[in-house]
This record gives sequence, C-alpha cells and structure tokens, in this order.
Amino acid sequence: MASFKTLDDLEDGQRVLVRLDLNSPVEDGEVQDNRRFDRHAETVRELAERDCGVVCMAHQGRPGRDTFVSLEQHADILGRHVGKPVEFVPDTFGDRAISAIDDLAGGEILLLENTRMCDEELPEEEPTVKAETEFVKALAPEFDAYVNDAYSAAHRSHASLVGFPLALPAYAGRVMETEYEANTAIAERAFDGPVTMVVGGTKASDVIDVMTALEDKVDTFLLGGIAGELFLRAMDVPVGRDIEGMDLFDDQWAENETTIRSLLDDYGDQIRLALDLAFEDDEGERDEIEVLDVEEKDRAFLDVGSNTVSEYAAIVEDSEAVFVKGALGLFEDERFADGTVGVLEAIAETDCFSVVGGGDTSRAIEMYGMSEDDFGHVSIAGGAYIRALTGERLVGVEALRG
Ligand code: 3PG
Repeated sequence: MASFKTLDDLEDGQRVLVRLDLNSPVEDGEVQDNRRFDRHAETVRELAERDCGVVCMAHQGRPGRDTFVSLEQHADILGRHVGKPVEFVPDTFGDRAISAIDDLAGGEILLLENTRMCDEELPEEEPTVKAETEFVKALAPEFDAYVNDAYSAAHRSHASLVGFPLALPAYAGRVMETEYEANTAIAERAFDGPVTMVVGGTKASDVIDVMTALEDKVDTFLLGGIAGELFLRAMDVPVGRDIEGMDLFDDQWAENETTIRSLLDDYGDQIRLALDLAFEDDEGERDEIEVLDVEEKDRAFLDVGSNTVSEYAAIVEDSEAVFVKGALGLFEDERFADGTVGVLEAIAETDCFSVVGGGDTSRAIEMYGMSEDDFGHVSIAGGAYIRALTGERLVGVEALRG
C-alpha cells in the first residue's frame, strides 16, 4: 500500500492547491470532454463541499504542438462536471493569479492557466530543484495544503507535480488514490486464481516491456494488435510486416525481434496468439482468414478473428484477475471492433478483478455501450499506466510519500 496521506487526512476549510490532469484531445481548437474531467470532478467537488478554497492547476499539450492551448475551455467543462462554477484565471503564478487566490472564499473553485506556459514547469529535474523555482516559491505560500490528483502525469518530474510536495503538506486526491491502487495491483497483490493480461495496441515495445516485467505475475498473455502480428512473424507466419504504403511493422520488428524470440522461447506456454485474423474484403466488408492459411501478407489485418475472440473470452472467464493494455484491433471502425469488444464484454460478464487502461482502449467501453461499473477499474492514465505495470516508480507518487 502507498504510504501517502489522502483527503481523509486533510482538514476541512483549508485553502488547497490541487494538481489535476485535464490533458485532453483538441479538435479544430476545441477541447474534447472526456473521462478525466468526470473523474477529477469528484476530488474537486469533495474539497469544495468541505469548505476548502480550491485552486486547480493542470497542463494541456506541449509547446509547439496544436494541442498546446489555454485552459479556458477546460474551466467550463470541469465546472459542468463538478456542478459548480470554476473560474478561469489566465495566469499561473503572477500578480493576477495571486490576487484571484487571495480573493477566494471557502467552497469556491479556480483553475489557473496551463502550467506548461510557465518556463520552469517542463524541464525534467530533481524535486529539490523544482521546489526552488519561482513558480513554486510564489504560489506555495498562498496555500495550506497541496493535493496531487494527477496520477496520469505522475511519471513527469515537473514543478507542479514534484516541487510543491516539498513546500506544502501534500495529499493524494481520490483519482490518485484509486489509480495507484488498481494499477499497482498486478505487481503488488496476490490473486488466488489465474491472472490474464490482454496486450495489444500499436506500440510493440510497450507490450514487450510489460510482458518482460510481468512474466512471473501473469499466467496467460492474450496478444493482438501490432505486437500480436510481430509474435506471429516470429513463429514463421507471413504476417507482421509492412505492405505498400504501410509503416508499422518492419522497424518495430528490427527493434524487438530478439526480445520477441526470447520471450517465445522462455515463456511460449504463457503466450496466446491469434488463430485467425480479420481484414477488409474487396466489397469493404469484414472477412477473416485462419492464420495457418495465410500464404503471403497482401492486405492489412485489422482485428483478431472470431475463433480467437472465443478462445480469449474462454480464458478470461476462467481468470481471477484480468488486466488490459491496448486494443486487439482497430475498434474505432465498427467492422474491426469484435476482438477488443468481445474480450471487454467477457471481462464485464465475470466477477474477476479487472483493470482496463492503455492509450485509448478504455474509450471502447463507452463507444460500444458497456458500463464502466462492470469493470474493477478503468484507468485514465496512458504512459503512467504502462510504467506502473512494468513496476517503475512514478516520481509524482514518490514525492507524495515525502
Ligand atoms: C497524458 O496525457 O498521458 C499525461 O497528461 C502526460 O502528458 P505528456 O505525455 O504530454 O507529459
């Protein structure tokens, strides 16, 4: 268990600085509402209801990217989820921010400007260095306490995440607490029955790192996506390679071939690969082929096939715990969602302990009308989730431990 303080340890009525992770997709300049707002709203609402003056800070994008925008729209979206107004302050730690903080009453909520608009936020440096930045030194004296709820950014050694815990009494928010417990469960919890891990997505090195770190903890890995094809390639199936106009497999194969082969040699019994694969036929419909019938890769494979889904679902049904990292196919296209959705539905129907995370995978849950309540935990973390699964300690969590 984590040895950090939580909101249960925080006194009511304090003025609190709260780090959220509201980093969101931005389309045509418009910030897209997503589950991060809904989750963090719980922490913010609780603090406001406990008569705290709540000052939130968060980041959006990175300098130079289209997604690097102001948090003005975030304030409106967050306010809707909290059910109370969230006032936006277009400043991070200057006079305007300080005066808005000074005027704040208990139960009121502010959101400061994008932390990454502050030069001292981003360079990855030691917490002691971050604690000495003007950003931290100007803001910290305004507060009684600091709450970090941004588990999904806790792998970054940025001022707003690791500097403030050295300057103020620090607490974990509700999101930080639940994400930490669920995502470290695979490494830290003992389960009575089989542990299964579904691994897919487009980044083979993430899959391989997770498999390497968890080979002793996981009984069965169910593979799909890019890594699934690369493992089939290592078994001499003519897939897992680029065809014309594709740039997904050959570089990742060159980079990971040795590790893939040694994982198969050492842990082949624990690894299940697709029995069949799905593709788009000449009429634009989904069609499937048995892996053993593939003679040459002449088209893209976009999902695992139905026999694979049945096999994977049966393994899930017999599991005590299931962790999901990455999609088994291109679920955004309904024709190629069967693998990802079939496995998620199998998890939802069992009583097993389950955690779903990794990039956009959890989006499939709402896209296909499943309920989050049927899963143990649906993570809002991307990079931090992968790191937690591989047993890496997150600097933002460590900073909270003091
Ligand atoms: C995320 O969206 O995964 C976190 O907010 C971290 O963002 P970053 O990868 O830009 O640091």
